[in-house]
Amino acid sequence: MPLRRQSPVLTTLRETNHPYLTGAWTPLHEEVDLPDPEVIEGRIPEDLEGVYLRNTENPVHQPLGRYHPFDGDGMIHRMVFRGGRASYANRFVRTRGFQAEQEAGGALWGGLADPVQLAKRPGFGAHGALKDSSSTDILVHAGTALSTFYQCGEGYRLDPITLETLGVEAWTPIDGISAHPKVDERTGELMFFNYSKHAPYLHYGLVGADNRLKVLQAIDLPGPRLPHDMAFTERFVILNDLPVFWDADLLARGVHAVRLHEGLPSRFAILPREGGTPRWFEAAPTYVLHWLNAYEDGDEVVLDGYFQDEPMPQPRADAPPGFGHMMAYLDEMSFRPHLHRWRFNLRDGSTREERLDPRIMEFGMINGRHAGLPYRYAYSTLPEPGWFLFNGFVKSDLETGATTEYRLPPGVFASEAPFAPRRDATAEDDGYLVSFLIDENRQASECILLDARKIEDGPVCRIALPHKISSGTHAVWAGPERIPDFSSRASAAWE
Ligand SMILES: [Fe+2]
Repeated sequence: MPLRRQSPVLTTLRETNHPYLTGAWTPLHEEVDLPDPEVIEGRIPEDLEGVYLRNTENPVHQPLGRYHPFDGDGMIHRMVFRGGRASYANRFVRTRGFQAEQEAGGALWGGLADPVQLAKRPGFGAHGALKDSSSTDILVHAGTALSTFYQCGEGYRLDPITLETLGVEAWTPIDGISAHPKVDERTGELMFFNYSKHAPYLHYGLVGADNRLKVLQAIDLPGPRLPHDMAFTERFVILNDLPVFWDADLLARGVHAVRLHEGLPSRFAILPREGGTPRWFEAAPTYVLHWLNAYEDGDEVVLDGYFQDEPMPQPRADAPPGFGHMMAYLDEMSFRPHLHRWRFNLRDGSTREERLDPRIMEFGMINGRHAGLPYRYAYSTLPEPGWFLFNGFVKSDLETGATTEYRLPPGVFASEAPFAPRRDATAEDDGYLVSFLIDENRQASECILLDARKIEDGPVCRIALPHKISSGTHAVWAGPERIPDFSSRASAAWE
């Protein structure tokens, strides 16, 4: 079937040599549908059914100040798989900010690296002067997709097949939702938090499988904090107060400067999923961008995530002039995150910690059916030194400690690779890793499938995408059981 292009969006972006507006971060502006894209290697497995969704950063307007890659407009790419076939599409998230800037014909908000005074209209995010571009995470809950913004946004619902923006999620609280709500695939519940510059600084919320808000609870903190992610178990949620947050003196003058606060521990709040009094645990100081999973083990709550050895990195000396600070704060080789395990003892209040792998890695995925439960396998990404780009994957067997790796050729970069269970799978790692690649050598993109049981063998299938996509942050897999009437709705992707 032929490629179908949507009407072009208005863009005012000019040529630039900005390191995060060129190369693998070159914004894409066209929106297309392409059923049955060309398979360039292998075949699409008959036993792969569901939807892969990927959020990317694609600014459409000339920035008012200094562009930061988290300022880009959110664009969702999707690949539907069914019956040995695939269908691709991509669409911008039609956020209120995106629409307002389309009408205004230019940018209305500054970005993360800009003074707040640049904003021409009231802004969003805990920062308060940003555009909610919904460009960070994408998840599936209550049968639809939900895109989010890294520093608390409104949460946009999208049809997971057509990618039509359905609107702002009605239960979004006044301070928004952070980039990383968590969905328990077993119960269909969604757990979220938000944070802000005003007391009580943190809230926790629970939304049912019926998409109704069940719990919204304040969590007392000593001041504004910058938690990025949360975790859950069968009975508990785990929130965090880490010692990396805005400098209070500078914040009082309207300057948002993040720093490590020496002498403060990492603190973890464990509370019932249905809400209640948090119990606080202390641990070694660090910052953690992403958690991998958590579960209960007797008296202990086990939490796995990526412990940063250098939460306040030095500017990168090899960055283009003026970009040393920004590029260090986008570079895992600067932060040095390692897979790490915390054990919180509910009986005596103690914490134990251990490093699980000496390699620098982050952005981990698991079989979503094991979220909140004991699990064995993790799939992390390996960083391209100096860049917010991924150049390979590590599979970790957390029972034996064994690991396998797949590294991409130089100049080829991956998306986060969610795990897609094979139909009728019984083993935890019986399925595929799905990733979208950006090949700077060929100036092209493709979708790859890795057999999760032997990622070191490389792709079992490669599917060409019709354009080179931009890099971005997060991706998700949703099987047919998570999208009502999947079979008939998926058919729309081939019409
Ligand atoms: Fe994130």
